Amino acid sequence: MTERVFITGSNRGIGLAVVKEYVKANARVFAGCRKPDTATELQALAAAHPAQVTLVPLDVTDSNAIQAAAATIKEHTDALDILINNAAINPPGRFQTLETLTAEGFLFMLHVNTVAPFIVAQQCLDLLSKGSNPRIINISSDMGSVSMRYYGGDHGYGTSKAALNMLTRGMAHDLKSRNITVVSLDPGWVQTDMGGSDADLTPAEAAQGIHKVVASLTSKDSSTYRRWNGDTLPW
Ligand SMILES: NC(=O)c1ccc[n+]([C@@H]2O[C@H](COP(=O)([O-])OP(=O)(O)OC[C@H]3O[C@@H](n4cnc5c(N)ncnc54)[C@H](OP(=O)(O)O)[C@@H]3O)[C@@H](O)[C@H]2O)c1
Repeated sequence: MTERVFITGSNRGIGLAVVKEYVKANARVFAGCRKPDTATELQALAAAHPAQVTLVPLDVTDSNAIQAAAATIKEHTDALDILINNAAINPPGRFQTLETLTAEGFLFMLHVNTVAPFIVAQQCLDLLSKGSNPRIINISSDMGSVSMRYYGGDHGYGTSKAALNMLTRGMAHDLKSRNITVVSLDPGWVQTDMGGSDADLTPAEAAQGIHKVVASLTSKDSSTYRRWNGDTLPW
């Protein structure tokens, strides 16, 4: 069966690599991006695979845009098998330290990294309810692990991912009766604008891992916190 996948933040970095991975796997991909006009790599992919890739305009902080994105997907399919909540921000330095993080900066990070994945999932529930082995993948980070928090700083990012992990657990419980699996997934340290050039993994390596882990998930894995290589992380 052709898997139907919706990925947010898919114009660059891990999101773009994940789109490429699912295209290779012959999936039907809905590629969310906030500036489709400048998403040249995505546009090229969609042009090369018009039956497989649809660009979906989506700024995840805009609730109307999320509704419109779900409506766009419904014009093409009646179901989704996989939602990958990938879009996120991790602004540097002054946005993260105890001394300098402002309320506005903190709230903005929480909006993009925590609230938006929740609202995107909420708006996709009817599509996912009709999917095959439906899965919601919240792209988290090991920096969202409370039990591994033996360092300071990165308050906005770490807190937003820990809160996303909390949503994973709660949503997994809510969606058990609909057989929708919800997991948090740490993509590893990846060479992207966010991860930097010293990171361990190329985006393609991370995307291959993500694809493999997501393919292996069933409802018995719901409410787990996984790494790109399938390992389980402590909450
Ligand atoms: N890279 C790492 O080492 C690493 C490690 C752990 C976890 N992660 C997680 O992996 C995911 C992808 O990270 P990445 O490294 O690929 O980051 P990235 O290179 O910075 O790319 C971030 C993506 O999110 C999109 N985005 C940001 N704000 C958005 C908004 N308001 N609406 C829609 N899209 C928005 C960006 O779109 P624009 O181009 O429009 O800004 C871009 O496509 C994130 O959830 C991140 O937290 C990454």
